[in-house]
Amino acid sequence: MHKHFLSAADLTPNEAEALLARAARLKAEWHAGDQAQWPLRGKTLALVFEKPSLRTRVAFEAGMTQLGGHGSYLSANDIDMGGRESVPDVARNLSRWVQVIAARVFKHTTVETLARHASVPVINALSDREHPCQALADMLTLRERFGQLQGLKLTYVGDGNNVCHSLLLLGATLGVNVSVACPPDYRPDPDLLAQAESLATANAATVVVTTSPVEAVTGADAIYTDVWTSMGQEHETARRQPVFAPYQVNLALMAHAKPTAVFMHCLPVHRGEEVTAEVIDGPQAVVFDQAENRLHVQKALILTLLGF
Ligand code: CP
Ligand code: NVA
Repeated sequence: MHKHFLSAADLTPNEAEALLARAARLKAEWHAGDQAQWPLRGKTLALVFEKPSLRTRVAFEAGMTQLGGHGSYLSANDIDMGGRESVPDVARNLSRWVQVIAARVFKHTTVETLARHASVPVINALSDREHPCQALADMLTLRERFGQLQGLKLTYVGDGNNVCHSLLLLGATLGVNVSVACPPDYRPDPDLLAQAESLATANAATVVVTTSPVEAVTGADAIYTDVWTSMGQEHETARRQPVFAPYQVNLALMAHAKPTAVFMHCLPVHRGEEVTAEVIDGPQAVVFDQAENRLHVQKALILTLLGF
């Protein structure tokens, strides 16, 4: 396994499967109330967050507590990376005190710079390019629902953004057929798409990108969407609304998927925009399983990165 976890493509198929299996074991132990083992006693995770967070932050903090360690949250107001202190200096300082760093950043290059200058593992807790911890939780959720991942069809509808990118890479790694429906100007990054396509070929899966939501959703086992405007793009909200309106996930679109299909969303959600309330609050939604699974996969990830 890589020293750092910056991209969903940092995991080989075997490593990804082992991480999910470990997360499933941790989940079972947690639900059984088995908290006897505190392997991370005395260890600290620094959470360097330039953007807000509910799920990622609390899952990391609670996860560290459950493993006997501690999470130290540092917002932009606290450390102002690149302003008050350079990114390499933040990495060098934190490496003297903590055993692992999770960073949520605007620019993906910032998390790469942190990793280059840190002597401890760095985890991408969301950048403008990827959200790999989310994709791990999503794959765990699908594995629980369907028993196995190989051969499933996952359809992502909406913006070809960070969440879409990590789903493409991790899905292709794990043999999931990923189809994406997005407006022509909001396709996934071409280089990342090429990377996903070559991973898919190696793992007996397919990657398809289209502008047609109905075409992409047909026969899907899971329909996934995310906000139309990601953090840092708020000035584009008005321009994006009409472009994405035909990409709303509603009951009419869900009807093209398999009857057993689940609805997925990384959250937070804007009900009535990217998805209707009846879908996200309906029986097909697994969004709070996805949210819970952030805890289990992030615990598994930290343990693995720290050599436990
Ligand atoms: N899904 C997700 O990463 O949520 P937060 O932004 O609240 O961490
Ligand atoms: N694409 C969203 C995901 C939030 C968890 C964003 O980057 O804001």
